[in-house]
Amino acid sequence: MLSCHTLMDSWDTVNVSNSQFVSDAVACEEYDRVMPVFDDESVYVARRIEVTRRNIVLDVGTGCGLLAITAAHQARTVVGVDVNPRAVAYARKNATLNEVADRCLFLPGDLYAPVAGRTFDLIVCNPPFVPLPTGYRMFLSADGGRDGMDVVRRVIFGAPRHLPEGGRLLLLTLSLGSDARPLVFCYLRKAFAPRCARIVTTHIYDQVRIGAEPFFRLFEDVPSYPEWRGFLAQQQLTHLYYMLHEVEPHDRFEHLERHNKEPLEQTEFSGSWDGRLNRFRTWLERKRGARQREHHPPTV
Ligand SMILES: C[S@@+](CC[C@H](N)C(=O)[O-])C[C@H]1O[C@@H](n2cnc3c(N)ncnc32)[C@H](O)[C@@H]1O
Repeated sequence: MLSCHTLMDSWDTVNVSNSQFVSDAVACEEYDRVMPVFDDESVYVARRIEVTRRNIVLDVGTGCGLLAITAAHQARTVVGVDVNPRAVAYARKNATLNEVADRCLFLPGDLYAPVAGRTFDLIVCNPPFVPLPTGYRMFLSADGGRDGMDVVRRVIFGAPRHLPEGGRLLLLTLSLGSDARPLVFCYLRKAFAPRCARIVTTHIYDQVRIGAEPFFRLFEDVPSYPEWRGFLAQQQLTHLYYMLHEVEPHDRFEHLERHNKEPLEQTEFSGSWDGRLNRFRTWLERKRGARQREHHPPTV
């Protein structure tokens, strides 16, 4: 098993739009693995960042700094925050590698705590949002608690305090929901209706929603699975949605939805739910293999 407790024992380097990013290797199995840059949703978000030279940007949960550094190529200043100090170290290294270190500040800490009292023209965030059975440790970068919303809720309700009039939020979420509506919509409405914002939600996968049963079943062997399923059933959380939310100022509250049916140009991001579920499956199998090796180390 690879250990990634020291910074950069083993890392992958990935190029995205002429920038280069180092992060923990995909094969790393540690809970605090800094999310590798895949050609997937993170890159999708990075390509949607639009800022001007006057803008100050906050990247919440910056990881290896992909979104922050992408913004820093166009913005005045970017602050990236991450609760994982190893992520902050990678982000600083990547800022230097991409020659934007003079415009970037990376701070360790919990969500908005390191930037208390400050406002930003744009907040970008790709938070951990994977719903997981209680006590199941996957990755810090993915763990969203029982309904997937533990961090997302705090990001949404904290955002208005850090957005001046005219400020924008770009937020990626996976969300459980009923067959009619994702859970995250009620949090977005509650946080932004009083600000007269316009929210544009883009469904980024080939279907707006899928039944969550095949995803839930991936965790069947976890001891807390029955309790988790009881909780999900009680909350009527039966479907999965994958979305990018763009919140911007408007003269009244409005929430629009659209569907991205086109795979992104020049990327491997296929926007296919099948591919996404396969990725979850691969993660879990790798984790299971690692746990088995921990409990039954091979004899040499
Ligand atoms: C899905 S990863 C996104 C990484 C990067 N922004 C990207 O898009 O590639 C989520 C990040 O949020 C960080 N995170 C999790 N909980 C956090 C918290 N309470 N405060 C700050 N960062 C947090 C994780 O360490 C991880 O780096």
